[in-house]
Amino acid sequence: MDRIRIVGGTPLNGTIPISGAKNATLPLMIASLLTDDTLVLDNVPNLADVGLLKRILGNHGVDCMVKGKRASHNGHSGETVELSARAIIDTTAPYEMVSKMRASFWVVGPLIARMGQARVSLPGGCAIGTRPVDLFIDALESLGADIDIDGGYVVARAPNGLKGARISFPKVTVGATHVAMMAATLAQGESVIENAAREPEVADLAACLTKMGARISGAGTATIRIEGVPSLSGARHTVMPDRIETGTYAFAAAMTGGEVTLEGATPDIVKRPMEVLTEIGAEVTPTNEGIRIKRNGAGLKPIDISTEPFPGFPTDLQAQLMALVCRADGESHIRETIFENRFMHVQELARLGADIQLDGQVAKVTGVERLTGAEVMATDLRASVSLVIAGLAAEGETVINRVYHLDRGFERIEQKLGGCGATIERLSA
Ligand code: EPZ
Repeated sequence: MDRIRIVGGTPLNGTIPISGAKNATLPLMIASLLTDDTLVLDNVPNLADVGLLKRILGNHGVDCMVKGKRASHNGHSGETVELSARAIIDTTAPYEMVSKMRASFWVVGPLIARMGQARVSLPGGCAIGTRPVDLFIDALESLGADIDIDGGYVVARAPNGLKGARISFPKVTVGATHVAMMAATLAQGESVIENAAREPEVADLAACLTKMGARISGAGTATIRIEGVPSLSGARHTVMPDRIETGTYAFAAAMTGGEVTLEGATPDIVKRPMEVLTEIGAEVTPTNEGIRIKRNGAGLKPIDISTEPFPGFPTDLQAQLMALVCRADGESHIRETIFENRFMHVQELARLGADIQLDGQVAKVTGVERLTGAEVMATDLRASVSLVIAGLAAEGETVINRVYHLDRGFERIEQKLGGCGATIERLSA
């Protein structure tokens, strides 16, 4: 198994290109199941999760073709992927596949909408919490699907098609909003999704579905209206920039000091994380290229914060923020409100010398003068990258084990950080 070796202590200086968003790419790829025409996606990041989803969609009969990278001045702006679900050969998503990546459960929406049936394995537990699927089931039942749970599978049937409905989510859920929106595009009549997730990835999916012929308004707000259409067509869509990757490298630059331009980053979708970074003591400047992050000399200030659905501070940056304030002058409080068990990084950060106490859903982080390198273990995607941030500022050598977690969501991380002066390398097994 690959490991990452970092020798900390060098400020980051330079430019980091921001890739297409993993969490937009996955639902966009799944949307290809809604049409027998070809969906072309540009700026697709080269990530393990994307590769896995290609295989999962292939199992349903989707032809996925990578058309190569488009030229750009930084030599890389993602892949162009053509997805063609001309014939769906299997409406079952088996346990072996869904258990590897929770988002693959989302195929249930397009499959039931287009084929009138779907049999999709329950995703099962996951490292960051129990993550049930009750809200997906409620939404699809509202749209007229009959749902049974049988042998660990969600079996959905709607032989006469779905019918438009009002879906009111009792809590904000990104995945069930994606699924309800995709399913409603092919339902008969109007659907209204209330308390919808406002995450930019929902708006990106809606923009692509609209190019495919769907009639959607309000995506990106709490109320989404969808007027069902009989069928969707192919389209071409460019995946939005990754706001979590943007925030991660911004926090890394604030951690080490220096000046980094996050090329292609969109300021609008990272407002809250950038406000937080400014409060902590970094300079954040939107530029023509993206966002510039700078910290020279000044210390880091502590912070009190809760994770929230968008536009609040994202749970997907909680671990990275925690790594950063490990070096702040004083005591920070970070409350995790989205997932009940998203603190696996705490004990690993402690191995680097961090002082963190957990009290239920709140982490109390007392800043320390210095972190020191150690051998640590990646436990999930965002936890892993928090260890990279801490390692960049730690004295001496940090070795991160189980790097496959990192490869699920960060493209070319060693090259991107190494290009800004970090001493970071992959040790292949
Ligand atoms: C998406 O997960 C993201 N994944 C997650 O990113 C992200 O952490 C999360 O949204 C929150 O922003 C992708 O986009 C692929 P939810 P999702 O449904 O859709 C509860 C990463 O690191 N809930 O918004 O699975 C759920 O348990 C990943 O890139 C129910 O109770 O998250 C959680 O407490 C990890 N019942 C809350 O809602 C349901 O039926 C929000 O989860 C569904 C969800």
